[in-house]
Amino acid sequence: MRTQVGIIGAGPAGLVLSHLLHLHGIESVVLENRSRQYVQERVRAGVLEQGTVDLLKETGVGERLQREGLVHYGVNLRFGRRTHRIDFADLTGGKAVTIYAQHEVVKDLTDARLAAGGQVHFEVADTSIHNFDNSNRTSKPAIRFRKDGEPLELVCDFVAGCDGYHGICRPSLPEGILTTFDRVYPFGWLGILAEAPPSSEELIYAYHERGFALLSMRSPHIGRLYLQCRPDEDILNWPDAKIWQELQVRLAAEEKWKLVEGPVLQKGVTGMRSFVVEPMQYGNLFLAGDAAHIVPPTGAKGLNLAVADVRILARALADFYSTGRRDLLHAYSETCLRRVWKVQRFSWWMTSMLHRFDNENAFDHRRQLAELDYLTSSRAAAQSLAENYVGLPLE
Ligand code: APR
Ligand code: PHB
Repeated sequence: MRTQVGIIGAGPAGLVLSHLLHLHGIESVVLENRSRQYVQERVRAGVLEQGTVDLLKETGVGERLQREGLVHYGVNLRFGRRTHRIDFADLTGGKAVTIYAQHEVVKDLTDARLAAGGQVHFEVADTSIHNFDNSNRTSKPAIRFRKDGEPLELVCDFVAGCDGYHGICRPSLPEGILTTFDRVYPFGWLGILAEAPPSSEELIYAYHERGFALLSMRSPHIGRLYLQCRPDEDILNWPDAKIWQELQVRLAAEEKWKLVEGPVLQKGVTGMRSFVVEPMQYGNLFLAGDAAHIVPPTGAKGLNLAVADVRILARALADFYSTGRRDLLHAYSETCLRRVWKVQRFSWWMTSMLHRFDNENAFDHRRQLAELDYLTSSRAAAQSLAENYVGLPLE
């Protein structure tokens, strides 16, 4: 098999990249080790930045998103049992975020790629990458894998490592090339999907002495809610009634407000970490999305950051194929990392402000409350949150 760009992983990064390359007339093949059904049902985040929405719409894959996505012009911060709204439209000149589940984005992109005759191979096994270090200019990069048990090789000009945090691309780099920067948080999120209409039109981020809670949603009928929990929390210790009870306590408000409960459709615990590798490229291999960086979910930046990476990569590859110049490709990592670090800062800051840390004391709790008070009483501070939340301008 032969293609121009071999893409490993059919998550948001791999699929958006394949779609953008197609629009530039560049051929790619996407290899995914999970089944199509698994990838399209996996519950992940669901907040799209303005720039992500604009990109999907402008490139012809935003039709269902436009119809079914919920446009939010603000978010709520709740602390001391009071609610404070951050008005994005006012603070960012009319920008918004859109609530639309990541797996729906993945569905739309997979459909678009296949309808355009694109190659997306699911359930491939034993993926490995070769000859990507550029040392031997006569032999091209190759991806080896198995499909239905048969060993295959895909020869390509470039490999895009879009295979997430647990993928094989990042660990395939020779020792000593990558520097890792990370922070593991001493808590996780227990998340539920519930058959209950969202009790608020917009998201509520709640700071509470028992820990953080978040009210989000997937549709006018389905709620998505989270509780700060221990990082190794056993979900078996959390029967549905106990989850609702804890949400009721942490989300409680002084004003007239009621958290509507409903059957829990799905639940799970995720750990939280901040993680970056530098550089995000080596030879003809380019890492994008979770393969190169992870953010804690507070602020919902993971998918959006993955899309920002591949936008830069698609442009660099398009420039190479049309002019033969490699300067944008050489600058890929540096260009991406400027945004990556700003988004890391924002996600870390939101996380630090809203969660209870075991090692912190009463001073820190007062400091967190003062930060929230400042944020909700200073236009300058609120504007900083708003411009980051709706998404910093794309390069
Ligand atoms: N071979 C082929 N595919 C692989 C391999 C492999 N060895 N290892 C992992 N994959 C696939 C995974 O099954 C997954 O579908 O790569 C894909 C990576 O997708 P994501 O984990 O979704 O990562 P990414 O596309 O970078 O999206 C960014 O934003 O909301 C966050 O973490 C969330 O997934 C999200 C991310
Ligand atoms: C979600 O809806 O899954 C979500 C929303 C906001 C976040 C994180 C996750 O900050």
